[in-house]
This record gives sequence, C-alpha cells and structure tokens, in this order.
Amino acid sequence: MFCGIVGFTGKNYQSAPILLKGLQKLEYRGYDSAGLFVSDQALGTDQLVKENGRVSELEKLVSSKNVTGNAGIAHTRWATHGVPSVNNAHPHVSADGRFYLVHNGVIENYIELKENYLKNVEFHSDTDTEVAVQLIDKFVKDGLTTFEALKKLISLLDNNSAYGFLLMDREEPERMYVAKQKSPLLIGIGSDFNVVTSDAVAMLDQTHDFIELHDGEIAIVDPDNVQLFAANGDAISREAFHLDIDATETDKGAYPFYMLKEIDEQPVVIRQLISRYLPKDGQPQIGEGIVKDMLAADRIYIIAAGTSYHAGLVGARLFERWAGIPTEVHVSSEFAYEQPLLSEKPFFIFLSQSGETADSREVLQNINAQGFKSLTLTNVEKSTLWREATYALPLLAGPEIAVASTKAYVAQVTLQAILAYALADREQLHLNLEQELSKIAIAIQGIIDDKEQLQEVAKNLLVESPNAFFIGRGIDSTVVLEAALKLKEISYVQTEGFAAGELKHGTLALIEEDTPVIAIMTQPRLAGLVRGNLAETQARGSKTYTIVTQKIATEEDDLVLPDVNELLTPLVSVVPAQLLAYYTSLERGLDVDHPRNLAKSVTVQ
Ligand code: M6R
Repeated sequence: MFCGIVGFTGKNYQSAPILLKGLQKLEYRGYDSAGLFVSDQALGTDQLVKENGRVSELEKLVSSKNVTGNAGIAHTRWATHGVPSVNNAHPHVSADGRFYLVHNGVIENYIELKENYLKNVEFHSDTDTEVAVQLIDKFVKDGLTTFEALKKLISLLDNNSAYGFLLMDREEPERMYVAKQKSPLLIGIGSDFNVVTSDAVAMLDQTHDFIELHDGEIAIVDPDNVQLFAANGDAISREAFHLDIDATETDKGAYPFYMLKEIDEQPVVIRQLISRYLPKDGQPQIGEGIVKDMLAADRIYIIAAGTSYHAGLVGARLFERWAGIPTEVHVSSEFAYEQPLLSEKPFFIFLSQSGETADSREVLQNINAQGFKSLTLTNVEKSTLWREATYALPLLAGPEIAVASTKAYVAQVTLQAILAYALADREQLHLNLEQELSKIAIAIQGIIDDKEQLQEVAKNLLVESPNAFFIGRGIDSTVVLEAALKLKEISYVQTEGFAAGELKHGTLALIEEDTPVIAIMTQPRLAGLVRGNLAETQARGSKTYTIVTQKIATEEDDLVLPDVNELLTPLVSVVPAQLLAYYTSLERGLDVDHPRNLAKSVTVQ
C-alpha cells in the first residue's frame, strides 16, 4: 500500500484530533478507507474506530463516539491486498485484542508466513498487515518481548517486502513501536510529546524537527523519549533535522482544490528557482561537484516515472542541445529490470516530486551497487532518493498535494534547464536564461489570469467526450504525453498523446465524428506538418483545438501563447493542458485532487 501513517504520544493531550488532522493532510497518499486506535493512559481505556471511504467519514464516526486518549496511531489506506472495506482498513488487531498495527507497504511472502505460523488463527481481513500483527502476537505468546517480536517479524519478511510499521501494545498504552523498510517514516520530536508520520507535512502543526528512520531500523517512541535501534538490535543515535516549511503551505486556503492552487503557484515556483540557482549575475549556482561529475560523463541517463518521466523527456533535449551531452530518458520501472547497455562514464539523474517512488529507488540502489554517480532532483528534501543519491537538489516547488502533478513538472523542467545551462558553453548559447525564465513566468501568469476561457473549452470539447487526443511534433511531442496523462488521470476521459506523425500509422482509425483532437504547436519548422495531420483528422469529423505560439499563429488558431525559447515552450504549453484537465474533471463533478484508484506517492513497485 502507499497509504498514510500518523502516530502521536504525549502526556496531557487528546490525540484523536491531532491524528485526524494528520490523516487529512495525508489523504493524498490513499483514500479508500481510514482508521485509528487511541488509548487513554489516565482512564485505562482505548478505542478502535475504522471507516470505509474518505477521512471525513472517519471523522464523523469519531465525533459520534467519545474517543479520548493521549496516544494513538492512524492510517489512511490505498488498497493493495483486499478491497476497500472496514475489515480491511487499518489499524489491524491481533486475535486477543492486545496489539494494534498500521502498515504502509506490501509483505510479499505473507501467505507463506500465514501458512507456516498461523494455521489455526481466525482472520478478519484479506490483508498482509493482519498476518503481521497476528505474528507479533504469536511471538509474544511464545515468550518474546514486543520489541523482540517485532524484530523477529521483520527478519521473516522477504527481501521484496516493503513496510512502514507503527505498532501499539495495550500493555504499554503510551508507547509506539516503529519499523521501516523501503517505505518512508519519520519521528517528529516535540517538547512533551513525540509523533510518527509517513510524511512530515502531516505533522507540521506539531513539530518541524524530525529524525529519519533508515531501512531495517526500529524505534521505540514514548511521550518523553525516542530510542533508535539498528537492524541487529544495537542502540544507535541520530540528530533530528529541522524542516523549514511553513505549515500554511499545505492548506488550500480559498481554493476549491489543491490542483488549482498548485497550477496558480507555477510562476512563483519558477521565480524561486531563478533566485536560488541563477543569482543576480546570471551565473548558475548548482555546486561544483555536480558540474564536474556531469561534465566528465559521456552520457546522462534520466530515470523517472509518470509526470516526472515526461519532464525528463524535455530535460534530455536540453542536455543534448545546450550541453552537448548525449542523454537517454528511461521509465524507472522498466530500467530497474531491463538495464540497457550503459556507456563507459554514465551519470544518472533521478527526477521525482516525492523522492519516494519505489520504481526509481530500485534503479538508484542498482546503480549505487555498480558505483555510478547520481543526482536527484526532488521536491522533498531528506526523502529516500535525496539521501541515497550522490547529489541532490531541491525543486523548491513547495508541498504538492493534488495527486495530479503540475508545479513539480514545471520545477523539474526549469531546474534541468538551469543544469543544462550550467554545463553549456554559455557564450555559444546566446541565451540569458534568467531573463527567459522570467518571461516564461509572466507568460504562465497570463494563461492563469485568463483561465475561464479554458473552462468553456473543457465544457464544449471534452466533458461529454469518451476519448480525446493530443498531438504535437518535436518538443511538443513530449508535452502532449503530459497533457494526455493529466486529462486521463483526473477526468477519466480516455486520452492518448502522441507524435503527430504517428497518427496515420494507426491511431487515425479511432477518429470519428466529434472526437476531440488538440494540437500543441510551438515550433515554426514543424507547424505546417502538424496542421496537415490535424486536417487529416478533421476530414474524418474530429473537433479540433489548437494551442500555438505567437510566431506561428493564424486567425484560425484557438489559443495563442507568447513566444519563448523553443526548448522551453513545454513550461508554457503544459499550463493550458493542466487547466483543461482540471476543468474537465470539475465539470464532470469529480474529486479533482483524489482521482479514483490513484495515490500521490507510489512507494510500492
Ligand atoms: O513522486 P514522483 O515524481 O516520483 O512520482 C511519479 C509519478 O507517480 C507521478 O508523476 C504521477 O504520474 C502523477 N500522478 C501524475 O500526475
């Protein structure tokens, strides 16, 4: 499961409201069902509450009961094993009601463990997590302490398993046991309380100081103490780091959906990147080591998934055309298991909004084992991909909460442009990147200011349609992939994006009366060809919409974008596509931020 986890333990607190608020912030990670277990040291009572559906449903249920307690654990689920249901929701409980467990990840060998150790135990869910909590119970009954039982459980999980475990034992009502492998978990430090969370944003109202837990480690968290242990059980210590994020950045304020807020933030994101990486003299500042190692490489390999992969497709052209370094882009889930022949001196770039994508991490671990150097560009400092790469640079986009990624794409393309610029012979390039990016920020703002017209286009062109197509050539053939992903993932309109020249090699067969075809055309040398392809669809009855740059616009075109550097046009042309997706989802009455079946951060392979 991707899921979200929070836990809280403090002396004089009510934990349920804190946990529920944390779950609300984590809902982007999974929203099939939710639950919490809260224990009250003073009263000697505890309660388990679980509900199917969104966190708001759980909140209603909690407020209809008198849930009190100073310590507790909570979870919002994205189903992997077993359908979304109350029984499959976490926390899961051991047969005699002593242990409560929330879990993020997948236990690959859970059926084998169930058969080997738990033959006579009655199960109430279809989850791997229930197997884990029953095993802990069994090992404690066999004579181990809770800590030893957790350690033993972990030792039995196969190498492909991933877990973030947060466990409570009714016999130690203020204590939380924590363990992690391939699934993020942080311990937040308070003055007279401590927290556990799978993502710092969920607990920023409580603390900004966090201790990272590394793979294989275990922690015991009490209200006034945190103990860390290495995988072999030895006590270890680690300093907390301070996370400098304003908690209000994770609120959506007056916006109906995070996605719209995040689209609106894109000009600011570009300006942040300019001021951090292109200070006043216009000379890029990204660190000598990175520049040296990249210049020494004979080939760059960009590794990413989803939207980040699409940003990588733009980056590859920037590295090749500006810096003259051959560059390949790979989908991480493929590269992980089909590593191509590598050049002699490869350098790897990992693109990831979350920094936690399991497919990308698999590649990073493989290439680390081969001794290659790497750079992660991520929005989440201290994330796994940040920590495990040779170098890391922040995307500075601020927390991205909507499942559909928008500002992270813009940040990834912008930062890759800055990197390529840093590696380039800048005298030959004849480009002032700082000025160009500032122009782009203004161009994006112009589209955002006029966004209502795109709402009308969405209504007339897309809302009623079962399918849609985006076409483009050259650099536009990359951005149409992102446009299609955006539309399909939040509106469920079946959408394809592809190189316009490919139309007549197959996809043209799908064009019928009123099929929407949207063309993105920003390159004068290719516009004529794309117009020809568009005409071929029109001849078959398509409804078309054109997004073009000023220098190739004609009276017939629909949306005209300001001219910017040709390789940077995706930063601008992606924005109307994001807005078309947003408004189509909105007009279809869907939950824009929480598309069905998806989660924000994909921490399983
Ligand atoms: O956190 P990452 O950038 O590594 O995530 C990669 C993809 O899961 C992500 O971009 C996904 O495709 C988005 N939902 C697309 O909007």
